[in-house]
Amino acid sequence: MKHYAISLDNVEKSFHHKQVIAPLSLNIPTGQLVGLLGPSGCGKTTLIKMIMGMLKPDNGQIQALNLAVPHQQLLSSIGYMAQSDALYLDLTGEENLNFFAKLYNLSKRERTQRVVYAAQLVRLKDDLHIKVANYSGGMKRRLSLAIALLHNPPLLILDEPTVGIDPVLKKEIWQELMRLKNEDQKTILVTTHAMDEAQKCDQLIMLRNGYIIANDTPQALKTQYDAQDFDEVFLKAGGEVL
Ligand SMILES: Nc1ncnc2c1ncn2[C@@H]1O[C@H](COP(=O)(O)OP(=O)(O)O)[C@@H](O)[C@H]1O
Ligand SMILES: [Mg+2]
Repeated sequence: MKHYAISLDNVEKSFHHKQVIAPLSLNIPTGQLVGLLGPSGCGKTTLIKMIMGMLKPDNGQIQALNLAVPHQQLLSSIGYMAQSDALYLDLTGEENLNFFAKLYNLSKRERTQRVVYAAQLVRLKDDLHIKVANYSGGMKRRLSLAIALLHNPPLLILDEPTVGIDPVLKKEIWQELMRLKNEDQKTILVTTHAMDEAQKCDQLIMLRNGYIIANDTPQALKTQYDAQDFDEVFLKAGGEVL
């Protein structure tokens, strides 16, 4: 049997009678880097929040790491980075990291190690003593990513992790995501509307108005739609005439 880190079966969601996620089914294999793509408002965050158990689907079932969502155990097994940063502005970067490390029940030794690792990874080591209220947007994104990685979870769910981050760091973050997948066998689900990030994924899921319009490897999608880039795949898969 194939091993899935995330499975959605006929999941559906509306807000105020407006369908945001059409009934959709989806499997994300363990150990893959999967990109969830689509324009603003297509339902990416809604889908992610349902996988996280933060929003209840109107219909359908969701499993993550072979547990039915929501499940208490999943809180410590998923590294989640929300689209809007959930940080304590009155605390410094380091205090934020330590707060979340304690929340995840890391031992003191692990805590010290993981805080250093995570801060180094997102290039925040020299800014850890600064209050987060004085961080730029990009620094807050980086701190949120560090928090998602703190407890070394097997599954990472990252909602637009590189928005507001400069190209150099963005490249480094993607390199690290690929390393986490290749060396540490992490499963990573990442939303983006940056088509340049799409090429780096093992599997691309394109979402449009709550429907999956494409789901395959980047190369297979380009070949299937005879497309130069993923904008073109998206338009052709969505039935638009170019
Ligand atoms: N809590 C909510 N109440 C009402 N409408 C919502 C809510 N959350 C999201 N929406 C709507 O659902 C649609 C999809 O939003 P979202 O999942 O945030 O898209 P994306 O993350 O792809 O930009 C949008 O039209 C948005 O306005
Ligand atoms: Mg979103």
